[in-house]
Amino acid sequence: MPTLLIVGASRGIGLEFARQYAADGARVIATHRKPEDAARLRALGMRPLTLDVLDPAAVAALGTHLEGEPLDLVIVNAGVYGPRSSAPEAPTAAEFDLVMQTNVRAPMQLIAALAPRLVAARSKLAVLSSKMGSVSLMSNGSGWLYRASKAALNAALKSASIELGTQGVICMAFHPGWVRTDMGGADADLDAADAVAQMRRVIASANASHNGKFLNYNGEQLSW
Ligand SMILES: NC(=O)c1ccc[n+]([C@@H]2O[C@H](COP(=O)([O-])OP(=O)(O)OC[C@H]3O[C@@H](n4cnc5c(N)ncnc54)[C@H](OP(=O)(O)O)[C@@H]3O)[C@@H](O)[C@H]2O)c1
Repeated sequence: MPTLLIVGASRGIGLEFARQYAADGARVIATHRKPEDAARLRALGMRPLTLDVLDPAAVAALGTHLEGEPLDLVIVNAGVYGPRSSAPEAPTAAEFDLVMQTNVRAPMQLIAALAPRLVAARSKLAVLSSKMGSVSLMSNGSGWLYRASKAALNAALKSASIELGTQGVICMAFHPGWVRTDMGGADADLDAADAVAQMRRVIASANASHNGKFLNYNGEQLSW
């Protein structure tokens, strides 16, 4: 039975990943922030774990906390969009800190904390990025701060993949599609169940050649 860690599993895409893997019999460690989410995740057969990714001490402690857990797959899903403003409207310092700390600092700290576990299990690591973070595909200035954060996340994932890939870890950045969640909104193209089912197929068949790749939810390779 594979063991998975899903960071940010309280709702949206993270919850759907957790739900689908648990339904398939995987052992799912699902992180959340609110106490009421713990009961819901437990009722779905998962092991809930409280984690605010903005708490560096809690993130650093995660590696120790999960020592001995054979993590076959880690999904770093937690993210925020931030202000719905366009370039060149500057974000406030508080907006910048929230988005960059959640979308960039936290994944970097999580990867660092979990690296020994990832290497020990030759795990797969998937981070939820966005096509909006692709510098080469940018066609407008909407979501300026979010775009910058996901471009930085992509760079962080790519660098980590070079180091961890030599030790058997498969590191991937995913664009999940435009998905109907609190972040994606009601008009988005894809149902979370569909987007997640397609990403799970890509993750299941991923091999060393997928390490360091930026992938669309359906497995197509995206340019950085
Ligand atoms: N939906 C889309 O169309 C779309 C498109 C491209 C990329 N993405 C990316 O996919 C990921 C999931 O998106 P979504 O649409 O499912 O978003 P969502 O519905 O807004 O859910 C965001 C998730 O992140 C968690 N989170 C946020 N800040 C956190 C923190 N400080 N500590 C721990 N958890 C935190 C939330 O937990 P709480 O419930 O505790 O707030 C929630 O579980 C994000 O990284 C997003 O950028 C989404």
